[in-house]
Formats: sequence, structure tokens, C-alpha cells
Amino acid sequence: MVKHTVLVTGGAGYIGSHACVELLQSGYPVVVVDNLSNSKSESLARVEKITGKPLSFYQADIRDRKSLAEIFSKEPIRTVMHFAGLKAVGESCEQPLNYYHNNVYGTMVLAEVMAEAKVRQLVFSSSATVYGESASVQYSENSPLGPINPYGRSKAMIEDILRDLSAADKIIRAKLPWKIALLRYFNPIGAHESGLIGEDPNGIPNNLMPYVLQVAIGKLAQLPVFGNDYPTRDGTGIRDYIHVVDLVKGHLKAIEALESEKFASGGCRAYNLGAGRGYSVLEIIEAFKRVTGRKVNYKIVPRRAGDLAECFANPELALKELNWKVEKKLDDMIADSWNWQCKNPQGYA
Ligand code: NAD
Ligand code: UD1
Repeated sequence: MVKHTVLVTGGAGYIGSHACVELLQSGYPVVVVDNLSNSKSESLARVEKITGKPLSFYQADIRDRKSLAEIFSKEPIRTVMHFAGLKAVGESCEQPLNYYHNNVYGTMVLAEVMAEAKVRQLVFSSSATVYGESASVQYSENSPLGPINPYGRSKAMIEDILRDLSAADKIIRAKLPWKIALLRYFNPIGAHESGLIGEDPNGIPNNLMPYVLQVAIGKLAQLPVFGNDYPTRDGTGIRDYIHVVDLVKGHLKAIEALESEKFASGGCRAYNLGAGRGYSVLEIIEAFKRVTGRKVNYKIVPRRAGDLAECFANPELALKELNWKVEKKLDDMIADSWNWQCKNPQGYA
């Protein structure tokens, strides 16, 4: 397959920067658009250091139609990997309009500019958070959807918009149909094995692994474990953790699928990107000690509102249609997260 130019929106962020590394190492020229609202351009300098290859960076907001159109007119973009967006659940409940504006409106502007530029190949960062509380704890792509917060709803709305765009192609018999992969991530953790790029959260982390890292390195005193009275094997919440490098490899597999016969007449399909097995909070703490030798102080506190007891992926469709599955183990995720944290105790600052 000819390696064409990929536009990575949100490419300076946690997952986007890892995607840039994987794309460059696989021979794709990379163009990044990021407004740096939740990242630093240092991550992109590190991407270039890891790969020994340059990328083009535009500091711009995806809602800025004029700037975006200019980038499409200058660069020979064929695929867009769309990571740009806001992602904090709690913040989305306080600032719903900001979330809908950035995520939903931002994607609409991006899709409009893509259509004008005749670029119709898109890999979108969705989330397992689009699923509702179904009877089963293992989610398949056809499990019922029912997000419970504005962040999750923004992802579900974007999925709907992109499915509608693709459906319209059949009605108007589009010559150049949309080819869209909606990738529903489970819980990405870990970092590039070099320790040069990783997750750099602002303030006190919301998510488990960044919190564990900051307790282990002495920045925070104690991990609050949100409930030990769930109907799970040890009472704490179970999630499907996935190494960020495995996750971004799934995106490259998605590009290959969009370029293949499978999508010859276009389409919009959702794929779970997860390992298909879950670990509890206490299992993560235990594994962290085994892998790093560091004990993580913790305290059981009441449940966090909105948390599910257990959730993990059925990843069979991604294996069947994208030829993708996770390769890394929990110990790799922990070792690589810890390596990044130790080498960059202040993140990119
Ligand atoms: P991140 O915040 O590290 O990266 C997002 C990037 O987008 C940042 O660099 C930010 O500056 C940029 N950005 C935000 N709004 C923008 C805008 N309007 N215009 C241009 N750039 C903008 O987050 P991440 O963890 O790398 O997540 C990437 C994507 O994956 C997001 O869409 C997120 O919702 C989705 N996702 C993340 C997770 C997770 O656990 N990290 C899980 C499921 C889905
Ligand atoms: C969170 C987001 C979800 C997003 C997902 C992807 C929330 C409410 N949900 O989900 O929308 O798609 O990340 O990464 O933020 N835990 C603790 N103590 C902590 C932090 C977490 O015990 O300080 C527990 C949680 O209760 C949960 C597990 O650890 O059982 C994982 O939590 P987290 O990393 O926040 O991920 P999710 O809740 O799955």
C-alpha cells in the first residue's frame, strides 16, 4: 500500500502523539493540527526525536474553518485521524456547552472542510463510554448505546453524525463515498517504551493509572479506591486496560481496512479496541508493586458517581475485520507507564 499523508488532529496529545510515532515509523507523512489546549508542542519534538523524522505542525483549532481549509489546500491529505477534543467526564458535566462545541461542532467543521477538499477517509476516536449499562459486562459493537454524561453523549452524537454522512452517500450515489472507522477505546494506559512520550495530565488526575503513578512517585499521598462493595471478584471496579501503543496500532490497521476492498463502496463501522479482559483496581495496585517494586498507599472511599462495576470489550470484530488484537500485557503497560513517569516527573514541563 502506498503510504499517503495523514492529518492527525489532536496529535500533540497523549494518544495522538503515540499515533504520530507509529505513522512515521510505518512510512506515512504526518501533518498535525492541535490548539495545544491540553498539550505541549514538546511532545511533537519528542515524536521527531524517537522516529528521526520530521512532521508538519499547525497550531490551530479545528473549529477555525479558514485555518483548517488552508491546511487541506497546502497538504496532500488522504486520511484524517481525529483525536482532537475534550475528554474529562467531570468537567463535561460542569461545562456541557464547551464539550459539545469542541467535540461535536469541531467534528462538524472538520467533516465539512474534508468534504470540500474531497478527503473522505476518517478514523475517529470514540469511546467505550458510548455504551449504556447493559445486562452484560462485556460490550460488543451491537450492545445498546446510552452514555450517561455530556462527554459520552458528545461521542455518541459524533458517531450518529458520521453514520448519517455515510448513509447519505447511498441516497445521493456519491462517487467518492465516506470511509469511516469509529474506534471505541476501552482504558488506554502505558507509554512509548522510550519513555520520551506519555500521558501528562493537568492537575490532579481523574483516571486510575496517572493517579497511581503520582502516588508511587510521592507527588500524591494516597490513592482513593472508589468502592470495594461492587459485585466483582474483590469488590473493586474492573476495567479493560489497553496499552496505548497497541491502541494506536489499531488505528493503522483501520487505515489499511479503509483502503481495502472491504470499504470499496464506502461505509461507517464501529470497532471496539480493547483486550477483552479486565483487571480490578486492587489487581492493578498489586501488579504495580510486582513490576516496579513500589507499594501504592491506598484508602477505600465511597463509590464515584457514574462508575460501572465492570466493563470490558468483546474485541472479536476488530480481529476479524481489522486483523488487530492487543499484543502487550498488563506488566508492559505498568513498566512503560512507570518508565515515562520516572524520566519525566514533571511531565513535559
Ligand atoms: P488529550 O487531551 O491528551 O489529546 C487531545 C488533543 O486535542 C490535545 O492535544 C488538545 O490540545 C487537542 N485539542 C482539543 N480540542 C481541540 C480543538 N478544538 N482544536 C484542536 N485541537 C484540540 O487526550 P487523549 O487522551 O490523547 O485523547 C484523544 C482522543 O481520544 C480524544 O478525542 C478522547 O476523547 C478520546 N478518548 C480518550 C480516552 C482516554 O482514556 N485517554 C478514552 C477514550 C477516548
Ligand atoms: C474513565 C471515564 C470514561 C472514559 C475512560 C477511558 C470517568 C467517570 N469515566 O472511565 O468516560 O471513557 O476513562 O479511559 O472518568 N479509580 C479509583 N481511584 C481513582 C481513579 C479511578 O478507584 O482515583 C477506579 C474507578 O472507580 C474505576 C477504575 O479505577 O473502577 C478505572 O477508572 P478510570 O481510570 O477513571 O477509568 P473509567 O472509570 O473506566
